[in-house]
Amino acid sequence: MTEQIIRMEVMRYRPEQDEAPWLQSFDVPYSDDMSVLQGLNYIKDELDESLSFRWSCRMAICGSCGMMVDGVPKLACKTFLRDYPGTVRVEALHHFPIERDLVVVLDDFMEKLERIQPYIIPRQEQALSEGEYLQTPTQLERYAQFSSCINCLLCYAACPQYGLDSSFLGPGAIALLHRYNMDSRDGASEQRMELVAAEEGVFHCTAVGYCSEVCPKHVDPANAVNLNKTRAAGDYFLRFAKPKGRCQ
Ligand code: FES
Repeated sequence: MTEQIIRMEVMRYRPEQDEAPWLQSFDVPYSDDMSVLQGLNYIKDELDESLSFRWSCRMAICGSCGMMVDGVPKLACKTFLRDYPGTVRVEALHHFPIERDLVVVLDDFMEKLERIQPYIIPRQEQALSEGEYLQTPTQLERYAQFSSCINCLLCYAACPQYGLDSSFLGPGAIALLHRYNMDSRDGASEQRMELVAAEEGVFHCTAVGYCSEVCPKHVDPANAVNLNKTRAAGDYFLRFAKPKGRCQ
């Protein structure tokens, strides 16, 4: 494999000394099988140990290496330097406050994640002696795609609506919410639908669809948002169709 040189322009921001983020250039030797993450690791190991960025698995599973690569939200471990001949620009994920260099503050998403209750809340608790909560392959199919989310937040960096108003629940949290609402073992869908139909819920979405384009796991959060728009609208109209109770 031949070794070439790429110029990596990397966003730097150290709050104790920088007034605003800026770009620092590094010349990095690379081979065709090197990812952007490996390029950043080369910089940290060989050129500037003060560079900060998140990563863990190196195989598109943990979701921690999300960043902007030439202006597009990408997983750095799944993006190859060979696809950026000459120069590549690496910046912190858009729409999040920057903690340091390429590390963003995730508090807003963590709070949203907590709100959607991303776990199964059984309709009726089953005693251990009754065994597992069984599910058919067809029931699994209803949510399987949405369960592939790795919380990498590329969809939030791609979402113009979240960029304008961070109160929006956002594509990732809605996809996860949908994953649990579609699970036959779960019984908390009515509680979660209150979040879906709320002011900061699905109707905040302006249907750009870029969230699904950048999703590295093909979760299709835009579809989850659309399905929930339909369900929330249906729930609203069904309220009028329900027989009214008689007052005594
Ligand atoms: S390092 Fe885990 S997704 Fe990239």
